[in-house]
Amino acid sequence: MVVLRTMSEIEKMKRPNRIVAEILAELKELCRPGRTTFELEERSRELVEKYQVKSAFHQYRGYPDYLCASVNEEVVHGIPSRKKVLREGDIISLDFGVIDDGFYGDAAFTVEVGQVEPAVKKMVEVTKESLSRAIAQCRVGNHLSDIAQAVQTWVESNGFSVVRDFVGHGIGRNLHEDPQVPNFGIPKPNLKLREGMVLALEPMVNLGTWRVRILDDGWTVVTEDGKPSAHFEHTVAITEKGPLVLSRVN
Ligand code: MF3
Ligand code: CO
Repeated sequence: MVVLRTMSEIEKMKRPNRIVAEILAELKELCRPGRTTFELEERSRELVEKYQVKSAFHQYRGYPDYLCASVNEEVVHGIPSRKKVLREGDIISLDFGVIDDGFYGDAAFTVEVGQVEPAVKKMVEVTKESLSRAIAQCRVGNHLSDIAQAVQTWVESNGFSVVRDFVGHGIGRNLHEDPQVPNFGIPKPNLKLREGMVLALEPMVNLGTWRVRILDDGWTVVTEDGKPSAHFEHTVAITEKGPLVLSRVN
């Protein structure tokens, strides 16, 4: 069941999403060679305390940490670790969520650690742009399939592939609500976009095959061919005035 939010509920969703954006911006500064993803986790715990919010991910379906930190071939849901040391040329997706006064915020982006290989840099840029194109489709009267098509067409025409096993989602009083928001081909037109829908759009893009698998830790999603992957996510409200990106520091 898709829940439509009132304008005052959407107003309330601004705070958790702004806080997520601010925390992610701080974590980005720590993505330097020699840092571990464990240090990023520690910092994110401090920041959650500072903002007096709650983690949206910690213990969600048993997820052990506050932050998802996915390096190189890790697609999403990378568990922070003392053993995961960042090196020049790595890319890392930081995915973070909080709850504030009953409402959720969720966002992610991929950071380049120092100088990154041109093909990988291109993939990161194409993924970022695919999210912008997805956001542009968030208009009353469009369909979910327009979002999927915008991402897939852009990504594949640039020679990369779209992850199929994980999708975006509705968000509000829960982290994951209906509808699911795929980034790849589905029959169209499907569900109509309506005023008050709030969606977490999150294209995941691979350099090689779209196929992924889950590591034995039960969480970390990696590409089947070991090639790198990028991920960007924003929480976006659909309003009569067009898309309202809640998870941006404005
Ligand atoms: N942004 C991710 C998602 O919506 C983060 C979830 S991590 C989890 O799936 F641990 F909370 F599952
Ligand atoms: Co999400």
